Amino acid sequence: MTPPLRAAVIGCGNVAANHAAAYAELPDVELVGCADVDPERAAAFAGRYGAAPARPDEILDSELDLVSVCTPHPTHEAVVTAAASRGLHILCEKPIATDLAAAGRMVRACDDAGVTLGVLFQRRFWPAAQRIRRAVDDGTLGRPVLGDVAVLLHRDSTYYNADPWRGTWATDGGGVLMTQAVHQLDLLQWYMGDPVEVSAAHATFAHGDAIEVEDTAVATVRFAGGGLATVSASTALTPGLGCRVRVTGATGATAGLSEYPEGTEARLDVWAVPGAAEGGSPFGHGLTADVELSRINGALAPFHALQVADFVEAVRDGRDPAVTGREATRSLAMLTALYASAASGRPEPVPTVKEEITA
Ligand SMILES: NC(=O)c1ccc[n+]([C@@H]2O[C@H](COP(=O)([O-])OP(=O)(O)OC[C@H]3O[C@@H](n4cnc5c(N)ncnc54)[C@H](O)[C@@H]3O)[C@@H](O)[C@H]2O)c1
Repeated sequence: MTPPLRAAVIGCGNVAANHAAAYAELPDVELVGCADVDPERAAAFAGRYGAAPARPDEILDSELDLVSVCTPHPTHEAVVTAAASRGLHILCEKPIATDLAAAGRMVRACDDAGVTLGVLFQRRFWPAAQRIRRAVDDGTLGRPVLGDVAVLLHRDSTYYNADPWRGTWATDGGGVLMTQAVHQLDLLQWYMGDPVEVSAAHATFAHGDAIEVEDTAVATVRFAGGGLATVSASTALTPGLGCRVRVTGATGATAGLSEYPEGTEARLDVWAVPGAAEGGSPFGHGLTADVELSRINGALAPFHALQVADFVEAVRDGRDPAVTGREATRSLAMLTALYASAASGRPEPVPTVKEEITA
């Protein structure tokens, strides 16, 4: 029998628990270590999950096969490239980075070291998300022509003030687009293909006392295949109204999903394809009060578990994981263009990922 893979979690905050829970379910992985710049957080996490705590500069030199990178996004590059230089396989949280040059360096460092890099986009593992993708792939929808993303969430000042890195351009890299809507933008481009041009505007309506980044944004996107999409995103709603991703194909058929309340498994709220028309309001059971952030992350843990299992299998089999570093760079390219357009006030091209990665 092959020995279990030895895993560590770096960054012992909110989302790290989902990684630890996922490793605990896998018989061929052992969570042996954890590290955080805050030793108390590392010690508490170690106590909860039975991993040995270490300093971030020590952990990579212990006997490991893979690491989960659960640190704030602008720190992903330093942690990922250091882990790659030690020959470790890496599962990094989303977004891969906050700028494309950093993402390119991360992908190249992993390529050069011959290690697997996966990036967490666990919403791709919802059955509803996969069913829409199949409807794109098998021609049920036809060529995607119209997309619609709405990310209508509630965050309060406690969320933004809880950790010093949240809400500044330098340490968070952006607001609702970068940190929350990146999941739905990832789904949008997974369905509609490469975006080529965007127009965007953003503002800060509810959280200006706590953050300098945007809490609200609107955008249009044009895709290489000719399709068009609209995006609206905000953390200024009380209560939040969840998230929606919808795609119409050239056949006229539409498929869409809704995540409501935030953090619950998304359901197909529209399935209007040839021979079948189903749907229902995500608010069929009425509106709910806002959910605690820890419950949102916890409720998504089963989908983290599916992606972590895929990643571990990819490492074992020497194949690409479901979401590679290159693939994760595509949603970052769209984000880069959205922020550039909001700053310039003009439509902006979306940089092609190939150029960024090979530059
Ligand atoms: N996939 C998802 O649904 C999901 C959900 C939440 C967060 N995330 C992502 O996970 C990452 C972390 O988010 P979070 O909410 O858990 O943040 P958090 O602030 O709760 O936790 C981050 C932890 O990393 C530690 N840290 C910071 N720099 C470090 C370094 N260089 N080395 C080691 N430890 C370091 C901090 O002390 C903190 O304990 C972010 O990139 C975020 O976007 C993803």
